[in-house]
Amino acid sequence: MATRKQIINPELFDAVLFDLDGVVTRTADTHASAWKKLFDEYLEKKGDIDGYVPFDLLDDYIKYVDGKPRYKGVKAFIASRSIDIPYGSVHDAPDKETICGLGNRKNQIFSDLLKKEGVKVYESTIDLIKQLRKNGFKTAIVSSSKNCRQVLKAADIEILFDTRVDGVVSESLGLTGKPEPDIFLEAAKRLDTDVNRCVVVEDALSGVAAGKKGGFGMIIGVNRTNQADQAQNLKQKGAHLVVNDLCEIKAGVLAKSFSHDLISPDLEKGSSWTQIYTGFDPEDEGRRETLCALGNGYFVTRGAAPGAKDDDVHYPGTYLAGGYNRLKTKIAGRIVENEDLVNIPNWLCLNFRIPGEAWFRLKDVKIFLYRQVLNIKKGVLTRIIKFRDKKK
Ligand code: BG6
Ligand code: MG
Repeated sequence: MATRKQIINPELFDAVLFDLDGVVTRTADTHASAWKKLFDEYLEKKGDIDGYVPFDLLDDYIKYVDGKPRYKGVKAFIASRSIDIPYGSVHDAPDKETICGLGNRKNQIFSDLLKKEGVKVYESTIDLIKQLRKNGFKTAIVSSSKNCRQVLKAADIEILFDTRVDGVVSESLGLTGKPEPDIFLEAAKRLDTDVNRCVVVEDALSGVAAGKKGGFGMIIGVNRTNQADQAQNLKQKGAHLVVNDLCEIKAGVLAKSFSHDLISPDLEKGSSWTQIYTGFDPEDEGRRETLCALGNGYFVTRGAAPGAKDDDVHYPGTYLAGGYNRLKTKIAGRIVENEDLVNIPNWLCLNFRIPGEAWFRLKDVKIFLYRQVLNIKKGVLTRIIKFRDKKK
């Protein structure tokens, strides 16, 4: 039985912030394998008469390392084994027994693995991101990894994100990594979006905790382990919703939230009684205004956008049956007298302005979603538009 998808509602949210490893790309396993090789070799070399407990790909990785910046991960794991070594410096050689040295060694192993295995994506996540962007949501990649850009490039998906806040960006700005919320907050700031209108999508407990600490509107936990206790842990850290895969999530269309019985079915799929236009086309606007004109036998109004002025794009006009005037006009040097419909006062004058900007005009803004539907049976013309103002 097909399960009903959860919808990211555009009435409530404007942006979706995606973690990389384990959410968008299948590189969480690559990281986990690199960490295992590093720590197992290190623990074995360190020696202990009773042997050593190997790094556990599930428990140790998830609890101490997953989602955190590189050196934070080393620090947390070795502390769990009661090992105390100096922090060192980011320039430490990979064989130096410092936190940074170990982290640098892990990066060598990770890079080798990446070269060998390449980068695979979660197709369902890519589909969701494309759907979100099509429906006007902004998207960001927010990752602790300094390899983030390289991974995005290898998968050829850099273009799917409006901004990237990763390990490199975070270091250059002096931000604190997950589980602190700084990098998510930076992404929201760059997208010019309020945190409560942002959705965070994370597979790591540290990432979910960061989302919660940052006060984000919705946190979706992705449980790649398929284990019930991990779902429970993600919830406990602050996930509002836990899924096994993002095929369980769908991007809402703004039109969906218009619950008016008369218009919503047509806005959704159209019917033989509807004429649908998608996208704003200034060149075609005059023709559309004519084809979408609505009247009742007494008067008629062209289907111009509310607030539209008579200019090179729009020609708002309302006419009365029998409302003609005889007029003399000079055409090509000749005076021609004819009868014309008189333009009676335009009643489509609803307009608005964003503080500090001129009155709203379609041609001045970046449009994400534009849908104009004429229902000929009901005589209703609906226009839905989602746009970005000049402040962005
Ligand atoms: C996170 C991964 O995205 O990045 C962790 O979940 C990884 O497993 C961390 O350790 C740091 O990555 P990098 O590439 O900077 O060592
Ligand atoms: Mg992750």
